[in-house]
Amino acid sequence: MQLPKLLILGAGGQVGQALQASSPGLYTLITPTRADLDLTASAAIEPFIIATKPALVINCAAYNFVDKAEQERERCRLINATAVARMAAACERLAIPLVHFSTDYVFEGKAAGSALYTEDEPPCPVNHYGQTKLAGERAALAQSRNLVLRVSWVFSEFGANMGSRMLAAACAGQPLRMASDQWGSPTYAGHIAETVWALVPALLRGEPGGLYHLSGLSAVMPAASRWDLAAGLVEAAIAAAMLPADYRVDATTQAQWQALFGVPAASRPDFSAMANDKLAARLGRALPHWQQGLAPCVTGLLAQS
Ligand SMILES: NC(=O)c1ccc[n+]([C@@H]2O[C@H](COP(=O)([O-])OP(=O)(O)OC[C@H]3O[C@@H](n4cnc5c(N)ncnc54)[C@H](OP(=O)(O)O)[C@@H]3O)[C@@H](O)[C@H]2O)c1
Repeated sequence: MQLPKLLILGAGGQVGQALQASSPGLYTLITPTRADLDLTASAAIEPFIIATKPALVINCAAYNFVDKAEQERERCRLINATAVARMAAACERLAIPLVHFSTDYVFEGKAAGSALYTEDEPPCPVNHYGQTKLAGERAALAQSRNLVLRVSWVFSEFGANMGSRMLAAACAGQPLRMASDQWGSPTYAGHIAETVWALVPALLRGEPGGLYHLSGLSAVMPAASRWDLAAGLVEAAIAAAMLPADYRVDATTQAQWQALFGVPAASRPDFSAMANDKLAARLGRALPHWQQGLAPCVTGLLAQS
């Protein structure tokens, strides 16, 4: 029996690798690299997808350099917006669903302690990256069969990401200083992948997609600071004997951080934590909490070292 063919774009990134690592084995995964399909070559995207004839496309590719995006504006727009519109057009021609990822940076940010962002709240990005991601999610959502999952503060054992970079610095003996006044929803890439695999069968059956927040939060621990994530990773690394037991993460503020390291090129929301109730209702279960991703992330990093 031939398995349904799924095309994963950006398969070499952290979410793309997490999807491959947890693939349920029910599909043939087609995983082109940037050399096979460069998403800045907009005209090549539609023919590539149509020639591949997948049953579903998952786009994990993105231009994620939030500060550099303020200079590389056109490149960022080509990858995060134009390319997604081309993917959506190809999927429409094949009458197949597109699964696409967006970001909490479509929001301008609220005061600390506010209610978590829901899907009903109007986006208003404060940087170019966020503007291009918003354009991309709108292009994808033009077709009701497409699914857009907003994720945020993704950490994993794959590639260079916020978590792996922090742990690498700590293991190299450097002190870690993280802001405790910037709030969001950390999410383990393995949890993103398992959620996507739970959603794919319904999409393949023709059920509608829509817009959902895929965040690793719960009602018990609503929002996390950058310091919370760093301290959680360090604690897991200490438990795995990767770091000395007395290693601590220093808490700082964004203002202190900027005084030391310079003001970032792009504005960022102070509080952009997202509620995941809508997705939990669709799945019929709570999403895993980000803290449940700390140990597997550290174990995965250890296995690579
Ligand atoms: N990471 C986060 O904290 C975060 C937060 C919010 C939203 N998101 C969203 O979540 C999704 C997955 O993110 P991620 O963290 O897995 O990203 P990632 O690790 O940075 O991976 C991005 C992928 O995009 C590919 N790519 C970039 N430019 C390309 C181009 N011109 N042509 C073809 N491929 C290109 C990269 O290819 P190479 O392997 O060749 O570099 C890589 O495989 C993205 O939509 C991202 O915007 C992530």
